[in-house]
Amino acid sequence: MSRDNFHLIEKLKTRQTLTHDEFCSLIEERTPETDQYLFEQARTVRHHAYAHDVYMRGLIEFTNYCKNNCYYCGIRRSNHGVDRYRLTKEQILECCDMGHILGYRTFVLQGGEDPFFTDDKIIELVKCIKENHPDCAVTLSIGEKEKYSYKAFRDAGVDRYLLRHETANAEHYARLHPSGLSLDRRKECLFDLKELGYQVGCGFMVGSPYQTTQCLADDLLFIRELEPQMVGIGPFIPHSQTPFADSPSGSPELTLFMLGIVRLMLPNVLLPATTALGTIETAGREKGILAGANVVMPNLSPLDVRKKYALYNNKICTGDEAAECRQCMSGRMESIGYSLVVSRGDCNS
Ligand code: 5AD
Ligand code: FES
Repeated sequence: MSRDNFHLIEKLKTRQTLTHDEFCSLIEERTPETDQYLFEQARTVRHHAYAHDVYMRGLIEFTNYCKNNCYYCGIRRSNHGVDRYRLTKEQILECCDMGHILGYRTFVLQGGEDPFFTDDKIIELVKCIKENHPDCAVTLSIGEKEKYSYKAFRDAGVDRYLLRHETANAEHYARLHPSGLSLDRRKECLFDLKELGYQVGCGFMVGSPYQTTQCLADDLLFIRELEPQMVGIGPFIPHSQTPFADSPSGSPELTLFMLGIVRLMLPNVLLPATTALGTIETAGREKGILAGANVVMPNLSPLDVRKKYALYNNKICTGDEAAECRQCMSGRMESIGYSLVVSRGDCNS
């Protein structure tokens, strides 16, 4: 059985895709041996494109207000237990200044879908960041917007946009989200972003409730179709104040396996070893890098708001200053023979 899987990994490496059935058997018939083989191949491909460099992104979680009500997410609208906050423009600019001193050359502005931050406010913010730090890339991660808004952000200088597709299976999508949200609309946003010239990131959770192997194969084929520059993959982790409070976390091993597959599909992709992976597994981020990831996204948000941006429970790094995370992360990367680089870290393609 596992002979077939070695063969499938070879085929994936050569052709950069597989059929739906082949992806399913690759995932379902995983063994510790095929895991190791996949990770070795993923590292080879990754080293060819990016050597032992790890790019860092400074994550600024600037608002935890959200008008959406996704069943898995801790900051969903119906969670009245959340202490809501918004950072001021000045606070955000200070985070960037601190980040720049610490060697960050990409700032990721992430938030819930918060109508307070109008397009004009976002544009003003982006322009200030770009003016203060012209050597830096700005990434937005603020959800679904109209195409004209995406265009206006791009014109203001935004380089990249992260919008995880969450699941590429429409029925699964409907079990994770209330009826106002749809997979079709999500995909439309992603294709709009690509067309506007953004470096685009999609992505999904591993082990979200009702996910099947078929769903994961759908995710991989969607990634093949979209050809994003970035893919965010992390385990689902329950949040106690959501409808999925009692669902189990995703498997760290399967998460690593999916990272390895995506590296073979898109050799130049920017692939983060996520905070969620570091939360469910000791040295999860290091293992992510060793499975083919090449990006880490330490937190730059002010210490007093960190705990309030809880998408899931037990999130790591909520008690650490930006400088501590930066130090901690370089130690972690060096312990496995990799190094953080001071660079915008654009996609090599
Ligand atoms: N567990 C893991 N990841 C989550 N996200 C949201 N809620 C959770 C959770 N409970 C992820 C989603 C979202 C990203 C910002 O965080 O994939 O796109
Ligand atoms: Fe934040 Fe280690 S990366 S404390």
